[in-house]
Amino acid sequence: MLNFDFHNPTRILFGKGRIADLATTVPLAARVLVLYGGGSVKANGVLSQVQAALKGRAVQEFGGIEPNPSYETLMQAVELARRERLDFLLAVGGGSVIDGTKFVAAAVNYEGDAWDVARKWGGSIERAIPFGSVLTLPATGSEMNSGAVVTHKVKRIKQPFSSPHVFPQFSILDPTTTFTLPPRQIGNGIVDAYTHVMEQYLTYPVNAPLQDRFAEGILLTLIEEGPKALAESDNYDARANLMWCATMALNGVVGAGVPQDWSTHMIGHELTALYGLDHAQTLAIVLPAMMAARREAKRAKLLQYAARVWQLRDGDENARIDGAISRTRAFFESIGVKTRLSDYGLGAQHLPAVLEQLETRRLVRLGEHADIDLGVSRQVLEASI
Ligand code: NZQ
Ligand code: ZN
Repeated sequence: MLNFDFHNPTRILFGKGRIADLATTVPLAARVLVLYGGGSVKANGVLSQVQAALKGRAVQEFGGIEPNPSYETLMQAVELARRERLDFLLAVGGGSVIDGTKFVAAAVNYEGDAWDVARKWGGSIERAIPFGSVLTLPATGSEMNSGAVVTHKVKRIKQPFSSPHVFPQFSILDPTTTFTLPPRQIGNGIVDAYTHVMEQYLTYPVNAPLQDRFAEGILLTLIEEGPKALAESDNYDARANLMWCATMALNGVVGAGVPQDWSTHMIGHELTALYGLDHAQTLAIVLPAMMAARREAKRAKLLQYAARVWQLRDGDENARIDGAISRTRAFFESIGVKTRLSDYGLGAQHLPAVLEQLETRRLVRLGEHADIDLGVSRQVLEASI
């Protein structure tokens, strides 16, 4: 096992009716800014539950944070928080709203160009104002981690950053808030959580059997519970299981002490920045092709994955690996997330721009061995058409 630091300060309040707990978790004297997205939380009553719990407090609201939250929109929230001297943020929504709130939290008191908060991958963040979240979309894990991704629309850059200063203080996970999600977002959530586990699991063995079994447990649970969550919008248990899987997939537990990959995410982010695909759609496209391209470097873990997740234990090794890759692709397709660039109207003519963007952003040594250069990325993208 590799050396690691593990510290996760986010308090989770899980279950039905927990939004009312905001009355005791948000500090009484706080001047609060509630941030939300395009309006789903108004339509499904989540925002009114938040308002009821915070009744009588100093609360302002900022709506309109878009999927793949933009620096341009978030700076308006930064201005509002500065002008009104707001000192506590509450994100109400999916990963985009929570990520956007992390940016705002770090940018409000940042001296200098606020884009540097993201541009320097979070390294320049020295403090952030405290915040909590009410999660409405199980997918990213942002509710219990210190990462975020923000898009600079003008520069067409989707920039991840992380900092120990941007862990949420608390997150409320009420599975009933997910009942109004469209099937596309449930499928996206399953694929995102699945891929988060794969990026931390499918590397090379370092004798970390507990982390491996945590990872396999999440993958198997997603395979079992994901289709139920998709088929029945009001199946509380399936939604609860999906929600907890997504949180556990990226809160530091699975990845502690093991090598990590993240190449699928890095290539996927550029597809979103250039062509506007949903985050999870890009992962569904890149992951199967990446597994195939890296079959030698990942051989031992691919065989373990084939055996323990897909029960492929007998016969030729290469056939087992092929089977595991094709089952992964089929699983994504079965939950409604297409796995080919051509399914989204993209083809060979779109690849040079992606490769150019990877080069400009110096994303040329990706993966757990830092050996995924532009040549390998090209091979992966070509195989994804
Ligand atoms: O904007 P509203 O109206 O709220 O609608 C949203 C949005 O259109 C809708 N939605 C959310 N909850 C709903 C709902 N609709 C009905 N009922 C509900 N309960 O869903 C749409 C998508 O929301 P979004 O927040 O964009 O989705 P997601 O949670 O998948 O977040 C994606 C973003 O997170 C980043 C991605 O890159 C992307 O920008 N990621 C963040 C990570 C992190 N912080 O650790 C890791 C991930 O790998 C990922 O990169
Ligand atoms: Zn992701």
